[in-house]
Amino acid sequence: MKTVIKKVDLKNIEACKDDLDEAGRIIREGGLVAFPTETVYGLGGNAFDKCASSKIYNAKGRPSDNPLIVHIADFKDIEKVAEDISTKAKKIMERFWPGPVTLIFKKKKEVPYETTGGLDTVAVRMPSHPVAMRFIKSAGVPIAAPSANTSGRPSPTTAQHVAEDMNGKIDMIIDGGQVDIGLESTIVDMTDKVPVILRPGYITKEMLEREIGKVEVDRVVLAKSKKELGGDNYVPKAPGMKYRHYAPKAELIMFQGNDEKVAAEINKRSYESIRQGKAVGIICTDETRSLYRYGVVISVGSREDEKTIAHNLYGVLRDFDMENVDYIYSEAFYDTGLGQAIMNRLIKAAGYHVEKV
Ligand code: TXA
Ligand code: MG
Repeated sequence: MKTVIKKVDLKNIEACKDDLDEAGRIIREGGLVAFPTETVYGLGGNAFDKCASSKIYNAKGRPSDNPLIVHIADFKDIEKVAEDISTKAKKIMERFWPGPVTLIFKKKKEVPYETTGGLDTVAVRMPSHPVAMRFIKSAGVPIAAPSANTSGRPSPTTAQHVAEDMNGKIDMIIDGGQVDIGLESTIVDMTDKVPVILRPGYITKEMLEREIGKVEVDRVVLAKSKKELGGDNYVPKAPGMKYRHYAPKAELIMFQGNDEKVAAEINKRSYESIRQGKAVGIICTDETRSLYRYGVVISVGSREDEKTIAHNLYGVLRDFDMENVDYIYSEAFYDTGLGQAIMNRLIKAAGYHVEKV
């Protein structure tokens, strides 16, 4: 299959109307289109079409028990896919939609089990990216979309990343440049009395609690080791959280401690690895970059502004894949606010290999 790439001018989206309408037509006819959202690129298909959902699993090489997020562009479309929408859920939607938070509800029977990975619940989100909005509207149906990466690779934050993984497997890629946030949406399960965060993201627990009171965090999110997770047999509520996501090709090890000690340990490990003929990549920050002496050193952003770290993280992991390094040694980050999402992704990329120094 030939994958067409269409570039959209974000300053003048209407000038690309024909391409976005064409993308919408592909969706209605059962095809797949990758598109930018404010979090990461999504790989979209008609959420009501079980064949389209199967095609998504195939293109990603994703296990079919891992449900897809349904994207809508109009508040009233929630009624088409979900039931039992609580007052708390409505408050979150009013405050944060369109935006980077996904809510889980009981599904409407029209949503096929192929889309929800066999579950009776459905994850729904209204993205704020203007291209995503325009594309969903032109499709005229809710769009099921996981992140547009091959299963197990970091989520794509540019159209180039999508093309690396999906070229020849899908009908179209809409290129809207680099996305803004860079980490996937916060997922909140609204099916219990107290909402539970299943995946941390840009919208933090504190931001949600300001709107609706108590919110819990699933223990899979807080686990710092496989043991805390409950071993290999623990079944998390978000099926996707059990897979080794966001994995770079190299072995990633994270070091936690004060800046100087971390840098000293990483310098020592890098020196040893390089002497053994291995290639080493280092993930540091603008503030600590000058402390490193060996290997390919990349600053992921500034500790003063964690948004920059979220924005660049997946791109840096992909850069190290290109560099073909054997080891990636990374600094750790604070586990609060947006840092919780950053650490959640990095810990999983490291397969829980974190060393305290
Ligand atoms: O920011 C995002 O959410 C991006 C963009 C494209 O919207 N999408 C995304 O989708 O990250 P994906 O498929 O890569 O991750 C969806 C996660 C998986 O961990 C999946 O298990 C979980 O959401 N999920 C989906 N439906 C669920 C449900 N009904 N119950 C529990 N977890 C669910
Ligand atoms: Mg994903």
